[in-house]
Amino acid sequence: MKFSLRPAVAADMAEIMRLERAGFAQAIQETEEAFAERLSAAPEGCWVLAGETGCLYGYLCAEFWPLEPGFNPSRFARNHAAAESHVLDGEEVYVSSMVVDPATRGTGWGRRLFRDALSEMFTRHPRLRSTILIVNPEWLAARQIYSAEGFVEIGEIEGYFASGEERLPAIVMRRN
Ligand SMILES: CC(C)(COP(=O)(O)OP(=O)(O)OC[C@H]1O[C@@H](n2cnc3c(N)ncnc32)[C@H](O)[C@@H]1OP(=O)(O)O)[C@@H](O)C(=O)NCCC(=O)NCCS
Repeated sequence: MKFSLRPAVAADMAEIMRLERAGFAQAIQETEEAFAERLSAAPEGCWVLAGETGCLYGYLCAEFWPLEPGFNPSRFARNHAAAESHVLDGEEVYVSSMVVDPATRGTGWGRRLFRDALSEMFTRHPRLRSTILIVNPEWLAARQIYSAEGFVEIGEIEGYFASGEERLPAIVMRRN
């Protein structure tokens, strides 16, 4: 299979939502409105892996933030508006979400999507010099990609991932 990375556009929404539902438990899936807001407020951070037939095989969403020492847990609030947090002259990329189609996983596309989307953003926006993200301790494939790409753990946000009785922290990772 051959896929190509390109900026996401509004017409990708149905496919992005299909990937979102395939990627995350219902309790933490984000809404179409949230993706539409990101696409409109932070298009520089929205990328898709497109196949030859027009289907999508992955997406990655990010925002640009001012770089601050340490991290402020409130900035990672789910469903925050990109219009309020994304600044075009920010120095740090916040990767807010990434999914690869389940049928395509385990063949290296996740790592390529992550690496290539970040590389495009850093090339197009030379002020960028750092990347931050959070990850659920149980998302082992994602954690493997982030460690392999040089991210280090800089802290945790307690109870960030809640589902029923279960409460898991978010691990905060950064690469300078
Ligand atoms: C995370 C995700 C995008 C990775 O996509 P992918 O196409 O499977 O990624 P890759 O094929 O590049 O594999 C990534 C690495 O994870 C490893 N991996 C996969 N499953 C694993 C597991 N259960 N435990 C440990 N490592 C695992 C692979 O071996 C590979 O490591 P390697 O490069 O050292 O061989 C995909 O699994 C996904 O969409 N998951 C659901 C949503 C999600 O967790 N998103 C990330 C957080 S926002």
